[in-house]
Amino acid sequence: MCGIVGYVGNKEALPILIKGLKRLEYRGYDSAGIALINGGLNVYKNKGKVADLEAILSEKDTSGDVGIAHTRWATHGEPTAINAHPHYSESKDIAIIHNGIIENYSSLKEELINRGYKFNSDTDTEVLVYLIEDIQKNEGVKLFEATRIALNQVIGAYAIVLISSKEPDLLVAARKGSPLVIGIGNNDYYIASDASPIIDYTRNVVYLKEEEVALVRRNRELQIKTIKNKVKTPYIQKLEISLSTIEKGGFEHFMLKEIYEQPRSIRDSFRGRLNLEKGIVSLGGIIDYEQKLINAKRILIVACGTSWHAGLVGEYLFEDLARIPVEVEYASEFRYRNPVITEDDIVIAISQSGETADTLAAINLAKSKGATILGICNVVGSSIARATHAGVYTHAGPEIGVASTKAFTAQVTVLTLMALAIAQKKGSISQSRFQNLIYELDAVPEKVEQTLQESQQIVEIAEKLKDVRNFLYLGRGYNFPIALEGALKLKEISYIHAEGYPAAEMKHGPIALIDELMPVVFIATNKGTYEKVISNIMEVKARKGQIIAIVTEGDVAVKKLAKYIIEIPECDELLVPLLAIIPLQKLSYHIAAMRGCNVDQPRNLAKSVTVE
Ligand code: AGP
Ligand code: GLU
Repeated sequence: MCGIVGYVGNKEALPILIKGLKRLEYRGYDSAGIALINGGLNVYKNKGKVADLEAILSEKDTSGDVGIAHTRWATHGEPTAINAHPHYSESKDIAIIHNGIIENYSSLKEELINRGYKFNSDTDTEVLVYLIEDIQKNEGVKLFEATRIALNQVIGAYAIVLISSKEPDLLVAARKGSPLVIGIGNNDYYIASDASPIIDYTRNVVYLKEEEVALVRRNRELQIKTIKNKVKTPYIQKLEISLSTIEKGGFEHFMLKEIYEQPRSIRDSFRGRLNLEKGIVSLGGIIDYEQKLINAKRILIVACGTSWHAGLVGEYLFEDLARIPVEVEYASEFRYRNPVITEDDIVIAISQSGETADTLAAINLAKSKGATILGICNVVGSSIARATHAGVYTHAGPEIGVASTKAFTAQVTVLTLMALAIAQKKGSISQSRFQNLIYELDAVPEKVEQTLQESQQIVEIAEKLKDVRNFLYLGRGYNFPIALEGALKLKEISYIHAEGYPAAEMKHGPIALIDELMPVVFIATNKGTYEKVISNIMEVKARKGQIIAIVTEGDVAVKKLAKYIIEIPECDELLVPLLAIIPLQKLSYHIAAMRGCNVDQPRNLAKSVTVE
């Protein structure tokens, strides 16, 4: 998910690699490393920032005109120097850097262990370089061919670059699911996970396509094959964009980029965990606590902000599917409330950053009373991840925008997986319902993609409403937490006052606010309490409120009542939050951008709130 840089040519590689890593720093990462050929193949790596890597390089021989460098955002194994990339092969003749997730790494690893291999790190990446070397030895082939063959056994996502002391004039690069760009210089080549490290040296680039492997040699033409051994002609493009646009992947803000990353981040969060063929959900991180969850008399969810909203969706999911009572607590209230906690309780702490002080304190309190603590964190090795007994990581990738978007949908995805896994084992839902839901979940990324395509209409709504002073967001059932999250997104980045409410609760107070100036966003999808929500819409319409409705494709009834309509694809009621939040994130984004707000760093807010 993070940064890759490679160089082969006639210049000193180190300055190019370090500068490249710094260009990629905007992505967020936890460790960095470099491999250079000078005499032998040398790997240097360290936990922390690129500056921490530079610190250990100062007394080393770093000459050499071929090298690879990486910033890691851990997905498999803690962010330690050992788990940092590059990873050596067993003989230390080859080194690899990798962005992404090798989904079937554990079965590949088991096979290699049975054949006598010993691993040094916890990463999925090390398994791949061992596999490549194993193939090289057994088949007597060169690095390029061994990599190509190995990738046919890999399930998952990767952008990789390999270097070998046995073939010191080349790099091998490949991609699937994670981007990789090759810059063509004067008899030299630059490789990177996006064009920002390359732009200083050349504007001629080749974007590797899915499942392509490239042989990148100094003073030689670039060669590309598919992993199925089909020869491809490199398509050279001219880079015509500025540095800052490249860093944000062509988007104006990180928040927008992250909104658009959601089809991938949701998929990454269930990748390797959801097995449609076998009809199972397996969550390795909490396997030892599954029985406890099955027998649990209640679950407490503690979190703050957006993560708390994900927790609310979790409440509905666990109660619906696993029939376990759930209480969702603001961590900051919970910690000071003298709550009743017993050894039988299971506490699920949810946090993107894994550093939120209130959530951490709530965990420590519950721990001191003997409860079992499970975490759902995005940042591997973070304080919360370490403080919990076990957990399931969301694989959303680094989130830079202060307003959380892709982390939220990743949290909801993981909660769905947890509730499904427990429900199946407990027998609280039928196998056919389970089967139906896992297929529906698998289809969510595609439906999110479809939802993201609708932009013009949201821009038009934003244009009309950008100057209002208040907003109301209403929803019921699974859409109630979405109303809260929609309102939070708007207030965080546009500074417009917005309130989220359960739609039926409106008549007990907020209805007093409604007049022709008040925009009311209804999440009115076609399942659950749909008919009831229509009555609530009527109540608002009777008072001349401006209705913006998120509806299911093909809706007829709400369309007649609302001023603005945004459609989302049909899906099971349990999965609606993953789709319904998308237009609300975009609406907030466009309103804030039109108001000239600093979308990525809203005033007064911090990305990780480490104070209480
Ligand atoms: C989300 O948009 C917010 N910036 C904020 O509410 C955030 O969700 C909250 O601070 C919790 O953070 P965490 O998930 O990193 O624990
Ligand atoms: N899955 C790999 C790891 O955890 C790569 C992570 C990344 O993309 O930085 O080491």
